[in-house]
Amino acid sequence: IPVDPFDLVIFGGTGDLARRKILPGLFHRFCAGQMPPSARIIGAARTDLDHDGYRGIVAEAIEEFGGNLGGKAQKLKDFLDTVFYVTIDAQGEDGWPELQEFCKQKDRIEAFYFSVSPSLFGDLAERLHHWGMAGPETRIVVEKPFGRDLATAKHLNATLAAHFSEDQIYRIDHYLGKETVQNLMAVRFGNMLFEPLWNSQYVDHIQITVAETVGVGGRGEYYDKAGAMRDMVQNHLMQLLCLIAMEPPARFAPDAVRDEKLKVIRALDPVLPHHITRGQYEAEQGAEKQHPSYREAVGDPRSKTESFIALKCHISNWRWAGTPFYMRTGKRMSARSSEISVVFKETPHSIFGADAGRHRNVLSIRLQPNEGITLGVTIKEPGPGGMRLIDVPLDMTFAEALGDDSEHVDAYERLIMDVIRGNQTLFMRGDEVEAAWAWTDPIIEGWESRGEVPKPYPSGTDGTTDSHELMRRDGRKWREVSP
Ligand code: BG6
Repeated sequence: IPVDPFDLVIFGGTGDLARRKILPGLFHRFCAGQMPPSARIIGAARTDLDHDGYRGIVAEAIEEFGGNLGGKAQKLKDFLDTVFYVTIDAQGEDGWPELQEFCKQKDRIEAFYFSVSPSLFGDLAERLHHWGMAGPETRIVVEKPFGRDLATAKHLNATLAAHFSEDQIYRIDHYLGKETVQNLMAVRFGNMLFEPLWNSQYVDHIQITVAETVGVGGRGEYYDKAGAMRDMVQNHLMQLLCLIAMEPPARFAPDAVRDEKLKVIRALDPVLPHHITRGQYEAEQGAEKQHPSYREAVGDPRSKTESFIALKCHISNWRWAGTPFYMRTGKRMSARSSEISVVFKETPHSIFGADAGRHRNVLSIRLQPNEGITLGVTIKEPGPGGMRLIDVPLDMTFAEALGDDSEHVDAYERLIMDVIRGNQTLFMRGDEVEAAWAWTDPIIEGWESRGEVPKPYPSGTDGTTDSHELMRRDGRKWREVSP
């Protein structure tokens, strides 16, 4: 279904995120017939370009990052007709009258994507207001990093709140736009089967793994100031934790969902120092591959920033008291694989005797790749060998179950369309972001005050030995990181 006519202004329209994600995403929605023909995309950046110059950049970005373009040449031409450009100075006055001219049309939704450094958010918000472009219906979209601690996040929230109300601000966490992340809610709240068991009485523990094979690449300067805690845990992993742990919202509606997520964050206990381990990847050397170490990649031989983190935390409420949540994420791990596993308790008693072993059900929700859900169940080993039990997966790989033509929509595409539809359910509210920082700040401050240095781990492995020890101490194991 096409969305209503809109103008989307992308500040930072020539930048990396615009080229990799925003523009290809919009093109896909255009091809799917979701963008009405009168919609306009207006790139705005410092680079001096005319409309055609920008269209050239957009076309290149789509060719590079837009997937298979076979048979879509005409579509691309038509899409480029919806693209415009304004050379603008975020901190001065140049370009603003031209942009204002674009935004005069009143028959459409206006959205401004701040795909720029957060240090410019205030300048942009102020100028939009000053030039009369901040109407009550206007939407703004902001990206992480949303602050680097509680104080800076509060400052950013206040800066935006000076000109826009909360229901106009769309804070993107692209993990919330991933198909399986939404499926997590569908599985939990669309089935009778799981929710009665979804608590500390039946669940032994929950594991969340977001493993990447990439290193920090060309983003060393940003990453070394952030580290895995700020880059991944404070946002993506905590959002996953919230969705897996929250109480059922009364409705699938923005504030109903976000209120429940906020309660989870606020119920998190502080993390004990010995429940966290941090790592930095070492260089990978082999006949074919040669990757620099983390410290080489960021150009600081003494860097204390982590590229891997594993931790155990507890949610102090009636549902979860006593059930640990383990989370880990890192760069240059053995496979690209994101998975949430709900590990149920063993049966209280085995009627099959000690030889049958003890078994437990595991519900694994796989975010990427091979999105799907697997439920491990215990059955009898086939054959005449007596009552021997084995664990087998009830597997629902979405691509197989729903057919390969089930529409693949990237997280960004979905979220941008939600902005136009005015649906904030999959966006973070200001108080959520602040609560998440309030939880992570003391952890980071602890490392800094103790001068802690992350432990090295070999590239291509699943993080520090301490991370395995963290589990072993509790008589548990990380699930295998499988591609
Ligand atoms: C980003 C982080 O938010 O998420 C990156 O800044 C990380 O460091 C990326 O690589 C992972 O996203 P995805 O969608 O590839 O899992």
